[in-house]
Order: sequence, then C-alpha cells, then structure tokens
Amino acid sequence: MTKIIDLIKKRHSIRAYKSDDIPSKIIAEIEESLILAPSAGNLQARKFFFIRDKIKKMAIARAALSQMFIAEAPIVIVGCTDDFIKYRYGNRGLFLYSIQDVAISISFAMLVAQQHGLGTVWIGAFDEKEVSYILNLPKNLRPVVILPIGYPDEEPYITDRRPREEIITYL
Ligand SMILES: Cc1cc2nc3c(=O)[nH]c(=O)nc-3n(C[C@H](O)[C@H](O)[C@H](O)COP(=O)(O)O)c2cc1C
Repeated sequence: MTKIIDLIKKRHSIRAYKSDDIPSKIIAEIEESLILAPSAGNLQARKFFFIRDKIKKMAIARAALSQMFIAEAPIVIVGCTDDFIKYRYGNRGLFLYSIQDVAISISFAMLVAQQHGLGTVWIGAFDEKEVSYILNLPKNLRPVVILPIGYPDEEPYITDRRPREEIITYL
C-alpha cells in the first residue's frame, strides 16, 4: 500500500492526457473520495459534474482560457459550491466554507487518482459564467475548480517549493 506522503511527493500537475478510458472501479473510488471528504457542519455544500461528452469538454477547455489539454482527459470534473450553506453560516459559509468543502474533496480525489497512476491538474483559470452556461447550472451553484483526470501522456514538470522556514512557523 502506497503511503499517502509518497503520493503527495510524487504528484505533479499533468497537462497532456492519453484518451484511454478510466476503469469504472477507479471512477467509483474517485466519487467516494469526493463524497467522503469533510465539510463545514457536514452540510456538504458542493456538487461535482463529471464531463465525458467531447463537445462539452471542448467548450469547458475554451472557457478555461483555451487550455485545450483539458479536453484530452477522458473525465473532466467541475467542482461547484452550493449557496444553501449561507442559511446556516452566512457570508463565511458562502465565501469560505463552501469553497473549502470543494477544495478538500478535490484534493482527496487528486490523491486517489495519483494512487492509480492517473494524472490531474487543478484548473482555476476559467470564465465562471461561461462554464455555468455550458453546464446549465442552477443559480445556487458556482463552479470553482475544474479537474481533468486521465492517464498521463507526459512526464510531469517537477516544480519546487519554498523553503520550510518560509512556510511553517512554530510558536
Ligand atoms: C487554485 C489553483 C489554480 C490553478 N490553476 C491552474 C490553471 O488554470 N492552469 C494550470 O495549468 N494549472 C493551474 N494550477 C496548477 C498549478 O500551476 C500547480 O499546481 C503549481 O504550479 C505546482 O505544480 P505541481 O502541481 O506540478 O506540483 C492551479 C493550481 C491551484 C491550486
């Protein structure tokens, strides 16, 4: 069993994908990881759309500043916040918790994908209005992240990180 820290160390963004399908057992695990992640007050103010339709994937890629590699991936997940959280937590729920709810689900899914040799990249640069239109989203849902998932068709570029002293503080 791979250690989680090893998955975290190995993961890097993938921006080229093979067209090979992802086995349904792995998709089911990815779904579970999205669902089982923690959330504020366990309200789970999040929804995930799995885009497999080629035309929709192309439209999403164009809406993401034409990062066309997105459309190569067999599955493109769009993570959305759900604004019903405001009825419990007001603006903090709307502008912080619900985004964190989606973020932690996507983070878990990235690691599950990594464990199965799949590549992902977090896509934050996109036109929200355009993506909402393409997916015909109701007003309560706001798309906040796009995650293409597929078998890598490139070696990842190894990015570095700032030194520990700049990031971690003990008091
Ligand atoms: C909030 C956020 C938004 C991002 N948006 C994009 C994006 O639109 N396009 C892209 O290619 N990568 C995007 N990335 C990926 C980062 O560029 C990448 O994670 C970072 O450079 C570190 O590289 P690594 O993932 O390979 O370790 C985004 C990452 C995060 C967390």
